[in-house]
Amino acid sequence: MCGIYGFIGNGKVEDLINGLKKLEYRGYDSAGIAFSRNGSLIVEKKTGKVDTLCSAINDTLEEKINAGIAHTRWATHGMPNDINAHPQMDCEKKIAVVHNGIIENFAALREKLISEGHKFISQTDTEVIAHLIEKYFKGDLLEAVRLATLDLDGTYAIGVIHADVKDEIIFARRKSPLVITKNEYGSYCASDVTPLISLSRDVVFLEDSQIARLKKGAFEIFDLSGKQVEKRFCHIDWDEKSAEKGGYKHFMLKEIHEEPRVISDALMGRVKGEKIFLKEMEDWKDHIKNLRKINIIACGTSYHAGLIFKYFFESLRPFDVEVEVSSEFRYRNVLIDDRMLNVAISQSGETADTLESIRLVKSLGGRVLALSNVVGSTLTREADKTLYINAGPEISVASTKAYIGQMTVLYLLALYIDSVMGKEHPEKVKALSRLPELVDQFILTQEKTIKDVADRYVGYSNFMYIGRGMNYPSVLEGALKLKEISYTNAVGYQAGELKHGPIALLDEKFPVMAVAVDDDLKGKMLSNILETKARNAHVVAVTSASDHDVSSIVNDVIRVPDVENYLYPFFVGISFQLFAYNVANNRNLNIDMPRNLAKSVTVE
Ligand code: M6R
Repeated sequence: MCGIYGFIGNGKVEDLINGLKKLEYRGYDSAGIAFSRNGSLIVEKKTGKVDTLCSAINDTLEEKINAGIAHTRWATHGMPNDINAHPQMDCEKKIAVVHNGIIENFAALREKLISEGHKFISQTDTEVIAHLIEKYFKGDLLEAVRLATLDLDGTYAIGVIHADVKDEIIFARRKSPLVITKNEYGSYCASDVTPLISLSRDVVFLEDSQIARLKKGAFEIFDLSGKQVEKRFCHIDWDEKSAEKGGYKHFMLKEIHEEPRVISDALMGRVKGEKIFLKEMEDWKDHIKNLRKINIIACGTSYHAGLIFKYFFESLRPFDVEVEVSSEFRYRNVLIDDRMLNVAISQSGETADTLESIRLVKSLGGRVLALSNVVGSTLTREADKTLYINAGPEISVASTKAYIGQMTVLYLLALYIDSVMGKEHPEKVKALSRLPELVDQFILTQEKTIKDVADRYVGYSNFMYIGRGMNYPSVLEGALKLKEISYTNAVGYQAGELKHGPIALLDEKFPVMAVAVDDDLKGKMLSNILETKARNAHVVAVTSASDHDVSSIVNDVIRVPDVENYLYPFFVGISFQLFAYNVANNRNLNIDMPRNLAKSVTVE
């Protein structure tokens, strides 16, 4: 959600565009850049894609520049249009600012600045930052930015360039991420590591309430009192290749195909024989022995992974596991104590509601374990401990491989906790080790069948996903996936809830995606499927390879391997990912960047 890129050093205008292109996956609706030329700032911005901006400035792409800032905007204050796009400027057009986040007191600041003679032209909250810096600028850009940030309430990551200050650019953050790196050619800052990994793998994550001054090939970091602070470098292993499509039509499809590798990477070093080793958790063993409750906090797909943890852990022992959507959790009057384990799941580690939820937990004295994919993300820095899912960069907005990676690590966590509590599960540990190969085989053999099924259902506008037990979270996730990339109405229900209302929706135009694998609840699912058939609904069943009863009564079948009950959610999850992908692909939609969505939801 919104992307910032900037550099100072040897470069070209095109470098700003290339930086933005690597941030496109975050989701945006306009793009812009600013750089200096002969003592003036040149600002170019356009509604729409980075390519539109690129075409508009085609003649200047090769121009050599020594500094610039760039932005992809996802509108919050004011329509997505050229005026509201970033950079925003001051009255004299000497200062340009790009900004991610929301300035909560922007209306009051704007009114005050207007009364002091400043002229505003956009509807954005960002423009107040440019005018504040103008107000405070007395020759020292760092100091002016520092003073301006002291006036701001809310969240921000900002990049600032000044026409008269040729040898530095300034960045600052509060609750919106920024990462900095340098090499012999220059210093660079971006919203995440994706545009930086080709420049250097050693990066510094700016902390909350810090300001960075970038010069060619060097940078310094200050706190809000102006005191210089130490830089902590972090090494990023991701290589550039892993952020490219590698021959697939879409990142989403590439990422689904990476899932067997994601599972084995998540298991790597954590499973030895029949035992689980989570070295990150070792010093919490006493805490775990004493646990009375596990709280899971997450949003979207990560929330669904959390629900699967609940079902899995409860299958190991009766236990109090609560799973809550972060945007609700953060406003609840929650009871937190030291006999609880609070697990925050976030692929990006930057989801605003999840971050606020863990801040709430910590303020109440609770412990937070983060599960994230992004090394050095805000969540991982604020949590007490982190388990990384090691899935590599997930570029497609729709989360697929990160979900599978989250489930894998959550299963490891569940088995680890249960072993610390006294129960070992050697068979389950061995079964997990076999999973990468099974998933690989499954994708290889079933991808075409799932595509054919999707082709037959591409004309429908509504879908109902139903499942029970451990496969209930899978239907929520299946419906979410279809909604977000194919813009089709899809609802997920516990199959037992059908009679309490949702069945009224069903007719021949409202197909049902039913999960009826060979588990303890299959008989119940069979009855539910018959109920939907009696309403003339077409039924696609996800069922086990050896099934006869379900397949003989439904219209279409997706077969998953015969596995232990608790492993079905992996195969059901992947089936629904491929189904949604193929429906959306059939409709020629922008699968990796669905409308209205952002990869990283850094605002509330
Ligand atoms: O980065 P996070 O895991 O915290 O993101 C949470 C959700 O925004 C995310 O899972 C979202 O639902 C995805 N678009 C789903 O595909």
